[in-house]
Amino acid sequence: MNTQVTIIGAGPAGLLLSLLLDRNGIENVVLERRTREYVEGRIRAGVLEMGAVEMLDRAGVGERMHREGLVHDGFYLAFDGKMRRIDMRAATGGSVMVYGQTEIQRDLFDACEARQGKIIFNVEDVSIKDTDTVSPLVTFTQGGKRHEIRSAFVAGCDGFHGVSRQTIPSSIRREYERVYPYGWLGLLSDTPPVEDELIYVNHERGFALCSMRSKTRSRYYLQVPDTAKVEDWSDQAFWDELKLRLPEEQAAKLISGDSIEKSIAQLRSFVCEPLQYGRLFIAGDAGHIVPPTGAKGLNLAASDIHYLSEGLIEYFNSGSESALNQYSTKALARIWKAERFSWSFSQLTHRFSDDPFDYRMQLAELEYYTESEAGQKVIAENYIGLPY
Ligand code: APR
Ligand code: PHB
Repeated sequence: MNTQVTIIGAGPAGLLLSLLLDRNGIENVVLERRTREYVEGRIRAGVLEMGAVEMLDRAGVGERMHREGLVHDGFYLAFDGKMRRIDMRAATGGSVMVYGQTEIQRDLFDACEARQGKIIFNVEDVSIKDTDTVSPLVTFTQGGKRHEIRSAFVAGCDGFHGVSRQTIPSSIRREYERVYPYGWLGLLSDTPPVEDELIYVNHERGFALCSMRSKTRSRYYLQVPDTAKVEDWSDQAFWDELKLRLPEEQAAKLISGDSIEKSIAQLRSFVCEPLQYGRLFIAGDAGHIVPPTGAKGLNLAASDIHYLSEGLIEYFNSGSESALNQYSTKALARIWKAERFSWSFSQLTHRFSDDPFDYRMQLAELEYYTESEAGQKVIAENYIGLPY
């Protein structure tokens, strides 16, 4: 088989790229290790920066998001028993869109199917060769049969555990990593959210987050030790602990209910440099991971695809590789800033030591961010997303 671009991974990064290339007449094939049902079933974050919203619009998949998504002009920081609102609209003129990644994934798959785009599911043993030539080779097996694809470029959108990043020789690849000694226990329930905007809670018992998927579906998180097991947390134990961490007024009006999903995610910061090896380009979680505080994961995948699609479109229009060769540098400049924000927002809101000095530093910083106009602007402009 021959195509123009082989895309590995049908997550948000891979499918967004596939649709954008399609719209520009660039033929591509997507290889996915799992089934559509499996990929769609994963519960992830749900806050989109305006840049990501624009990317989904550009790919032609924004219609349901604009209809069902919730535009938020602010969010709350709760600390020391207080609720303080960050008014993103007043501070920056911007806002975010609250719309679950599960829905985005569904919209992307639907759009790919509508154009009869080529997604090959259940592939195994993907391997990438000849990336230093003008026609790299991707091989894989499906149902025990071996297949080959020759294309001009390969996009590695196969997530943190994929093969693409490992294809870059370790002599060239540099990886930066921080693993945090805690995780997030998430619970999804068909209950109305406690407030109509998100609440990030700094509490002596640990961080908590009140988020939502709609006006009738809530997503809550609790900071838990990295040794915690989801089986040890009954729904009741979750709600009891959440109430202890919320300010009094919110605890009193919290509506609990049965969980639809409950899981623990480990917190990690990770960046791989560079994101290019010859004609292989790495994008999304394959190249970087952020802790979920601030919900930058999907948004970074969208900005990577912005730069990468621009480079590929320029190449197929003009033959110039100049934008493509700037992909890694441009994408990384934005990635590092989002890494810094996610790391710093995690430091600001989580319990990471028993030292009361650390706690007082957090409170002082939270007061600064919420009381000072300059402070509000700093946090708001990072939250709505830095420019592409
Ligand atoms: N071959 C083919 N597909 C693979 C392989 C492989 N060897 N390894 C992984 N994949 C697939 C996974 O099954 C998954 O569907 O690649 C896809 C990667 O998707 P994501 O992990 O969703 O990553 P990405 O598209 O970069 O999206 C980033 O979405 O996943 C969230 O937290 C993440 O919010 C972030 C954003
Ligand atoms: C979520 O809704 O899952 C979510 C929202 C905001 C975050 C992280 C996760 O910062």
